[in-house]
Amino acid sequence: MKDKTFAIIKPDAVNKGYTGKIYDRILKADFNIIGAKLLHMTPKIAKEFYSVHKEKPFFNDLIHFMTSGPSMVLALQKENAVQSWRNTIGATNPEKAAKDTIRKDFASNVQENAVHGSDSDENAQKEIAFFFIDSELLSN
Ligand code: RTP
Ligand code: MG
Repeated sequence: MKDKTFAIIKPDAVNKGYTGKIYDRILKADFNIIGAKLLHMTPKIAKEFYSVHKEKPFFNDLIHFMTSGPSMVLALQKENAVQSWRNTIGATNPEKAAKDTIRKDFASNVQENAVHGSDSDENAQKEIAFFFIDSELLSN
């Protein structure tokens, strides 16, 4: 069974019509999409998902942003998925993101940064389970 990670195409990118272009990047980087859905996060969901950041000065702005419109949540599978996806998306701040990364090409700023990626295998598993039930995920 290959490794998995969890991704979000955030409201800024969905709103700008970048979903298709970001899907192209996902597939070009050889990820299998094993789960996908479009949803509009409620404040309750966004606060729970980003609870690790609840003491941060940017928390309220982050929740406002993540609830501002629809997001696409994705479960991705590939060898070394967590690190490979972090490499594909680039640094949190697009000004610091490497050339040809998703954030370099599609993010607006450090907050409206187009995509999310899990930061560990443990969090990937938790985040996938937070948004998907087993029957919504392909098993191959
Ligand atoms: P993510 O969790 O969304 O994949 O992003 P990340 O690991 O690269 O960054 P993280 O530190 O986990 O921050 C989560 C999200 O909060 C917003 N943020 N805003 N205004 C700011 O200084 C600031 N810093 C972070 C971003 O949307 C970031 O992705
Ligand atoms: Mg993070």
